[in-house]
Amino acid sequence: MKAPKFSYKNCVDLSEKVSWRLDQILPEDTILNFEKPHMPEALTETDQLTCLNQSEQLKLNHVRSNSYMNFFAFLEEYIIVLTVQHAQAEMYGDHDAIRALLRFSEEELKHQALFKRYCRFFDRDFGTSTKVLDQPAAIADVILSKSPIAVLLITLHFEVVTQQHYIECIKDDDALDPLPSSILKHHWLEEAQHIKIDHLELCKLAQGMPPEAISKAFDDYFEILSALDGLLEQQTDMDIESLQIAAGRQFTNEEFTEIKNCQYHSYRNGFFVMGMENKIFLRITKDLSPIDYERVLEQTEIFNKQKNTELVGD
Ligand SMILES: [Fe+2]
Ligand SMILES: [Fe+2]
Repeated sequence: MKAPKFSYKNCVDLSEKVSWRLDQILPEDTILNFEKPHMPEALTETDQLTCLNQSEQLKLNHVRSNSYMNFFAFLEEYIIVLTVQHAQAEMYGDHDAIRALLRFSEEELKHQALFKRYCRFFDRDFGTSTKVLDQPAAIADVILSKSPIAVLLITLHFEVVTQQHYIECIKDDDALDPLPSSILKHHWLEEAQHIKIDHLELCKLAQGMPPEAISKAFDDYFEILSALDGLLEQQTDMDIESLQIAAGRQFTNEEFTEIKNCQYHSYRNGFFVMGMENKIFLRITKDLSPIDYERVLEQTEIFNKQKNTELVGD
């Protein structure tokens, strides 16, 4: 695998330059405003749901925003453990690498605190109860039990997802409430360095590794995606339940099917396809293993085809 042009030292410098404080981005005295969407339609696709009126579509957009922030706080649980482990592996070694990795851990802890604070405010201000995934430690254990390259690959995947979401979907969407957009902008600003550190760590791990071991890591990567896919389906069901409470009505089987198909697809598209189609992710996977890069393209194709197929029958 080719070594990238940047170094751990560059990552530390950039991280210091863009660093922010939690209270600057989301002060404790914030009251959330629900007049505008919190998430871009490009990610939530709520305006495609013919069975919902405009006010219900907006409520679902807000429900999705809460689930989104929770999902990232949820994922960051294992990333904190991962980065501390990688820093530990460098002890007595490259001090720039240790600094970059420890900053990475600290930033993920701060991101978790930011997302959890948003979710706490959401619970207080939204007006009705919502359900989100919990027990992040259980999924963290599953992910961390996989091969170290797979764990870095899935981390890289979700870090490029934050970039895709902000640059492609959020940055130029003027219809959005500015506060959640600012949260996701500041998240992305620090994630940009994490992408670089993942790349550097992948180079270190892949050095001298036989192609079969790399392919096994890709098997693990796909297994993690599949486990997360199950969680996204659970979250879709929870979102529908939360929406029923917020809208004050019970959906018919037909309505439930329409919402579930649309929302589950949009989760898969936003969290899986957008990561697997990202240029940086594809460049790194191709460099790591051209055969397994083809498997990434095939899996993306499968997700894209499923987009046009109904997942839930009534
Ligand atoms: Fe993060
Ligand atoms: Fe990150």
